[in-house]
Amino acid sequence: MKSINDFIINKKNVLLRVDLNVPVINGKITEKTRIYAVKKTIKKLKEQNNKIFLISHFGRPKGEINKIFSLKFILTTLEEEFELTKIYFLETLNEKLMKETIEKMQPGDVCLIENIRFNEGEESNDLNFSKQLSKNFDIFVNDAFSASHRIHASIVGLPKFLPSYAGYSLVEEIKNINIFMNNSKKPNLAIIGGSKISTKINLLYNLIEKCDVISIGGAMANTFLSAMGINVGLSLHEKDLKKIALSILEKAKKVDCKILLPLDLVCANNLQDKININQCNINNILSNQMALDIGCKTIKEISSYILKSKAVLWNGPLGAFEYPPFDKSSVKIAKVIKRISTSGISTIAGGGDTISVIKMAKAQDGFSYISKAGGAFLEWLEGKSSPGVDALKKK
Ligand code: 3PG
Ligand code: MG
Repeated sequence: MKSINDFIINKKNVLLRVDLNVPVINGKITEKTRIYAVKKTIKKLKEQNNKIFLISHFGRPKGEINKIFSLKFILTTLEEEFELTKIYFLETLNEKLMKETIEKMQPGDVCLIENIRFNEGEESNDLNFSKQLSKNFDIFVNDAFSASHRIHASIVGLPKFLPSYAGYSLVEEIKNINIFMNNSKKPNLAIIGGSKISTKINLLYNLIEKCDVISIGGAMANTFLSAMGINVGLSLHEKDLKKIALSILEKAKKVDCKILLPLDLVCANNLQDKININQCNINNILSNQMALDIGCKTIKEISSYILKSKAVLWNGPLGAFEYPPFDKSSVKIAKVIKRISTSGISTIAGGGDTISVIKMAKAQDGFSYISKAGGAFLEWLEGKSSPGVDALKKK
């Protein structure tokens, strides 16, 4: 795979795939790391006098123009963050308009293309669409690792028509995730949370091969407990996945990977319940209650394993963190990781919810690396290849 770091790209028209699919609440961007991530690539392309056209998706408009998903709102933020006085905006991919804009732009100028998913050909990976889009350009750069698990035109189609390079952030993502997966110092620990094991079966099977210890929290732990015959009351769990849960435990035993399941849980009648909160041993869950967080004994046990580890990976909150006080264990674990971050341990985290929790704990600087990717991070950890990365390698 060619990286822009190793080449001079001078005075070209460049299509740069970025991921500006940032979280927005009431029109405000709440998390800008995906914007910061592409700064370095833009700076280099700008300094080498290229005309840079940014392609991104935003949300899931399903091939139709829908103002709710317009990328126009992000322009001022991009101008601020990239320190540019003006970023051009291309509302449609109309050929004439595209040519006019290219002519208007000076070397080093940047233009943002409207949400690429407004075009039907993007998600259907229509080759004609990619071909048409590539027409006025010399180079394609992919700096969107977090979208590279999608077999979409702007990810896998464009490299078929243009000399293609990986951007700095894409290279960084792969390097850092691979360090944990292939070269992490032992003993290593993976902390996996989230609500469903159905979305993380392949992840668990793959991590079992690579990790000394896996700690399982979040509602997915309930499925394991229930499979082991524990009465989980009203707790969220996946009844159909009992067999799979047991086979994961069995496989772990075979390869000598220790699985840590909760020892105690914080339960309540529902997510909003602040009155009947009850911390109990896993064998004492009341039949009218649900587990919403892991308990103190479990936090202590996970913390002790963190302290014994040389590398830690974290994906998925350990409780219903959006509903305090059920954020307690996740915040605590983030703080423990931050506290020991100077002791030479290598720590990596990824996934949208995990990043939110780490921010809540103000523990961002306690991690060696935080991936900007959600789904793409998980798929890479599962050992799946990334279509976007493969497309760059084929070039
Ligand atoms: C993400 O937020 O995970 C990426 O931007 C990909 O978005 P998608 O899941 O809508 O493809
Ligand atoms: Mg996603």
